[in-house]
Amino acid sequence: MTFALGALVLSASMGALSYFTTRHFLVGERESTAVHDAVVNAIYVSQNIAAQTTDIVQILTTADKITPNSNSHSLLEERGSVWYERTFSVTQSEIPASLRSLVLRRGTPGSQTYTFDGRTQIAVGIPIKSVQGAYFEIFDVSELGHTLRVLALAIFGAGAVTTLLGAVLGRWASGRSLRPLTGVSRAAVAISEGDLGTRLVSAAGDPDLAALTSSFNRMVDQLQERIEREARFTSDVSHELRSPLTTLAASLEVLEAQASSLSPTGRRALELLSADVRRFQRMVGDLLEISRSDSGAAEVSLEEVDPGELVRQAVAAAQRSLPPDVPAPPVEVDPAVAGTHLWVDKRRFERVISNLLENASLYGGGATLVRVAPGDVVAADGRSVLVSVEDAGPGLAPTERTKVFERFYRGHTAFQRGTGTGTGLGLALVAEHVRLHGGHVWAEESGSGGARFTVELPGHLAETDDEHELSPGGIEA
Ligand SMILES: Nc1ncnc2c1ncn2[C@@H]1O[C@H](COP(=O)(O)OP(=O)(O)OP(=O)(O)O)[C@@H](O)[C@H]1O
Ligand SMILES: [Mg+2]
Repeated sequence: MTFALGALVLSASMGALSYFTTRHFLVGERESTAVHDAVVNAIYVSQNIAAQTTDIVQILTTADKITPNSNSHSLLEERGSVWYERTFSVTQSEIPASLRSLVLRRGTPGSQTYTFDGRTQIAVGIPIKSVQGAYFEIFDVSELGHTLRVLALAIFGAGAVTTLLGAVLGRWASGRSLRPLTGVSRAAVAISEGDLGTRLVSAAGDPDLAALTSSFNRMVDQLQERIEREARFTSDVSHELRSPLTTLAASLEVLEAQASSLSPTGRRALELLSADVRRFQRMVGDLLEISRSDSGAAEVSLEEVDPGELVRQAVAAAQRSLPPDVPAPPVEVDPAVAGTHLWVDKRRFERVISNLLENASLYGGGATLVRVAPGDVVAADGRSVLVSVEDAGPGLAPTERTKVFERFYRGHTAFQRGTGTGTGLGLALVAEHVRLHGGHVWAEESGSGGARFTVELPGHLAETDDEHELSPGGIEA
């Protein structure tokens, strides 16, 4: 925009300057030629009138022929009121009143350029004392007006082209100078999305850019090192805790086998201890899993599966680890999912479903529905699949809906239950497992005011169509 504006201002001012200079020069030139011709003719006319050789109209006709190059007409005013003219194509009314009064009243010769009836004309008036009048000659200089119009048009065209070129140049130059920044911004986005291996490639020959590139890459190096150190630390701590915990759990089992010989207080203490050791073991397991995925060491073994079948199996497996009094939720499979397959690590997916079902039973009064439906993300080879788990409990406050996926975050529902047993790692792990599959997970309000957790996984078209097991209604419970 600035380049185009600059080009416009520059070309407009240069154009105006050249137009007015040329115009001034051309008009001045033409005027002096006209004055010269008129003076020559006026001398001829006044001499012939004085000699009284022929009649005045004849003298004027000859006068017009003396200067054949100029397209002009002569007029003569005698004694203030009698007009002579060679033809009737021009009349005294064509002479501007101001010029007439200058020449006749003040007796001063003069010339004027003006437009009459759409034509550009130059009138020259010269007083002739012998007839107590004046000689006028009107020059038709329409061709001058035409030349000036063509010039104005050419200047305008050149200005428009220059402005356009300015805009094109500006766009090209700004694109070129911003290109390195686009690279920086793209790298920053990739890094913020977790791709810590992204680095900037330094462009040769630009020292400013080389400094930016090297400091940016150094910053990412340090960032990566720090993240890896932290992940290693968590992983080392969890590893170190695992073996004493295993010993503790084994010893507790021995004690539990002999619980009947303990006093009621001893039994109560043993129950509390074993509950805490189990919770601790689970937390260490979760931490190990998270730190493995943080350090990029997570192993994912993908299998091609049918989403409906997968979810039914995962729900059944999760149900086994829940208390027996928790009813299994119905599984609803949208028929539109038929023909779409997923690449899934079954162990991880089962953990996702079991964590969501466990949360629903702990905080939402039990899952009311597990639904499999087509998603909105359409790729070249198929469309995504949504798996949602919903309950009819108190749900999540809007401010908690993203926070619950943070590590060690426990929401208000966890504390409502009194002494909660969770550590706040369950949903963080869910998000991690889903991310490893290239999908994402979010929480929202279910239709009944409870919570709905939805996992979106990228799907692809199944190669063999083996979806015949769907019930006619398309819904399986
Ligand atoms: N279905 C739900 N309804 C209401 N609140 C929920 C639901 N699911 C999770 N929450 C809230 O989200 C918080 C985080 O859940 P998350 O599973 O990460 O941790 P947790 O259940 O407290 O512990 P963990 O799963 O590690 O044992 C919970 O403390 C709870 O407050
Ligand atoms: Mg949980």
